[in-house]
Amino acid sequence: MAVKISSDLIARYGGNLPRYTSYPTAVSFSEAIGPQEVAGWLKALPPEQSVSLYFHIPFCDELCRFCACNTAVMRQEEGREAYGELLLDEMRRIVALVGRGRVVRHLHFGGGTPTTLPEFALRKVMAAVREQFQLSDDAEVAMEMDPRHVPDGMLPLLAELGFNRISFGVQDLNPIVQETCGRVQSYEQTLSCVQQAHAAGVHGVNIDLIYGLPYQTVESVQDTARRIAGMRPDRLAVFGYAHVPWKQKRQQLIPQDSLPSSEERVQQAAMIDQVLVEAGYKPIGLDHYAHSEDAMTHAYEAGTLHRNFQGYTIDSSPVLIGMGASAISMTPDGFYQNIPSTAAYIRALKEQDGLPIARGVFRTEDDRWRGKVIEIIMCQSGVDLTPYIPEGQSLREAFAEELEALRSFEEDGLLQWNGNRVSLTEKGKPFLRHLAAVFDTRRKELAAGSNGKPAPRFSSSL
Ligand SMILES: C[S@@+](CC[C@H](N)C(=O)[O-])C[C@H]1O[C@@H](n2cnc3c(N)ncnc32)[C@H](O)[C@@H]1O
Ligand code: SF4
Repeated sequence: MAVKISSDLIARYGGNLPRYTSYPTAVSFSEAIGPQEVAGWLKALPPEQSVSLYFHIPFCDELCRFCACNTAVMRQEEGREAYGELLLDEMRRIVALVGRGRVVRHLHFGGGTPTTLPEFALRKVMAAVREQFQLSDDAEVAMEMDPRHVPDGMLPLLAELGFNRISFGVQDLNPIVQETCGRVQSYEQTLSCVQQAHAAGVHGVNIDLIYGLPYQTVESVQDTARRIAGMRPDRLAVFGYAHVPWKQKRQQLIPQDSLPSSEERVQQAAMIDQVLVEAGYKPIGLDHYAHSEDAMTHAYEAGTLHRNFQGYTIDSSPVLIGMGASAISMTPDGFYQNIPSTAAYIRALKEQDGLPIARGVFRTEDDRWRGKVIEIIMCQSGVDLTPYIPEGQSLREAFAEELEALRSFEEDGLLQWNGNRVSLTEKGKPFLRHLAAVFDTRRKELAAGSNGKPAPRFSSSL
């Protein structure tokens, strides 16, 4: 049964928060971390350490108004092919630092729409991955795709290259919502893609939906969720629309008065949840759903689920190397981001040696354990704080500030304590990011403006 939240709670807890795909979050990244620091981090990786790889392709066939991703239209095939060559160049620079032959168990192509990479370039990138790394036989090899633009022969090609998971963007099936979002995509287009993936032998199929989009209603998202669940994808991601027009100019084309209120967003999320649960999917963390027999459900139930820049994952590697403009990477020492502008990323690779990195953050001891606590909260809706209490201290002494902040959660029936374990109640489930934020000391510092910069702005927390 979907949870109902009162408008009073929404008003008091609302506001904007990070999605905690990392801690520290990207707003803590600074130019103090650049190619030199990161080269040191990569060289320091133990030789037996496996790595995960991510390729960001910042191109789409057409742009959707709601989209917050770093992407643009690149009509010329030569331009897209040349970008493939730069990915190869960046990979060579990475391998010069981490060494050849590292085991890879997770490989993800995202964007944008990574199938805009021409076949020749895609083949070359995959051949180079297999040559420079050891792609394990059971590796998850995933591709994001736009069902409206599937190049001829793409699904058999992906199967041939070893892809075993495809993530299709849908968002919503309602014609008025689609029209306003500038993303008109028929039910039949999506169904045909799911069928083509299965026919090609790619059985891992994800579908992305969004609630909180212009003109969506509880009834319209119910209809979308029912029809999409009927296609039987094995996983779904159900994102709350992040309206960040100050960061992503194309969203300014969405009329402010077409957006559902926080109350409506919560009801829409609850309705999608209800439809998917009735259809046999298990809710996982903030925004994922999977079949009960899916590896992600098993990881969730076993407490081994992880969260990284790609969202929820069964990937346990502490190293994720991102390549391409704006790609974000994770190492035990810190996080870093490549140059976001595609033109500047291209220039950096053509004109300079070293990695095309714009900014990053070193993880202090405090960041590491807080990052672990936040990741566990985001994956398990609660955390046992025992391992984080310094010897000789009580929970109350070690977490005085956090406990104070959690008092109102408890009074509102959003969380419960069991010894040193704090977890969200059924009523508290929508407040996952709020619970995580209590352990985020960097956010408090940034909000206080202690670094002299304006306080960062995030997307809506509900
Ligand atoms: C790279 S796209 C998916 C692949 C492909 N380009 C497509 O659109 O079908 C990644 C996903 O991010 C999500 N997304 C993009 N902008 C968003 C926003 N402003 N708020 C919430 N989710 C968003 C969408 O669900 C989208 O499917
Ligand atoms: S949602 Fe997908 S197709 Fe649309 S602009 Fe974003 S990345 Fe491109």
